[in-house]
Amino acid sequence: MKLPPNAALHDHSPTPVSFREAVFEGLRKSQKTLPCQFFYDARGSELFEQICALPEYYPTRTELGILESIGPELGERVGAGVRLIEFGCGSSRKVVAVLQEMDVSTYVPVDISHSALQGLIRDVTKRFDDLEVQAVCADFTREFDVPGDDDARTVGFYPGSTIGNFSPSAAEEFLGGLRPLLGPGGMIIVGVDLVKPTDVIEDAYNDSAGVTAAFNRNLLERINRELDGTFRPEQFEHLAFFNRDEGRIEMHLVSRRAQSVEIDGEIFNFSEGETIHTENSHKYSLEGFKALARRAGFEALEAWTDARDLFSVHLLRVCS
Ligand code: AVJ
Repeated sequence: MKLPPNAALHDHSPTPVSFREAVFEGLRKSQKTLPCQFFYDARGSELFEQICALPEYYPTRTELGILESIGPELGERVGAGVRLIEFGCGSSRKVVAVLQEMDVSTYVPVDISHSALQGLIRDVTKRFDDLEVQAVCADFTREFDVPGDDDARTVGFYPGSTIGNFSPSAAEEFLGGLRPLLGPGGMIIVGVDLVKPTDVIEDAYNDSAGVTAAFNRNLLERINRELDGTFRPEQFEHLAFFNRDEGRIEMHLVSRRAQSVEIDGEIFNFSEGETIHTENSHKYSLEGFKALARRAGFEALEAWTDARDLFSVHLLRVCS
């Protein structure tokens, strides 16, 4: 693809974690697990797009609504000439809402997927013809060089409550690890899903159209496709429930009966009712997330929510 003149793509050739290793490691455990990062192959990404548009799945539209309504205030809080780093390419609509209201000199999207970056570059440069885009193809959970002006105020953007996939202690460690990259005076905008009545949360992960169930089972289909597995996905039931003690939605696939599955020559046995734990999605109170941010070495400058207190957008600043 030919890039527009105001865009560059720096390829740091990230080596993705091996799907194969992760599958074998996860399925050999006594509580079987599969890491949620592997949901997003082409089919899974398509299903995730559908999830975001479901009536029951409130996070995406609620966060977009918050970002659109706080724009001018956000622009004022972060100041002019900002270098904006987005961790993972989400929907371009969210970053467009932010770019519209902030005085950004350089936009740095970071993602492990080359094709996702190309799509984002296309969308964003179409919308802002004189914005400098310096995309980086890298694993943002590891160290990488940030292009652009190091003296500019650096602001991170981490929407979607993706931070909820980390345990609270891992989230704290991840945020803390971003401090050197953001630099003194640096800030980060983080989207965080809020704790709320159980039925509202559980409905968002048990939609009536069955899209989330298909998204969950796609992991088994992916194992069949890529690793020559013999899963019968319909023999596993989608389970999603709010674990209030842990403050998280847990997704599992429940074996409907005793069965064996072969993956590339290795046999995995399932008893009836045994589960594969496929995702955790942590929810926070406003104060709970602010406290986590402080422990990670940030000042919690501001937090915005929607009228129903479903979702929150936090603005944090690196403590000097
Ligand atoms: C992208 C991790 C924020 O936890 O809500 C949606 C993923 N899983 N439905 C979430 C997801 C099932 C989503 N995150």
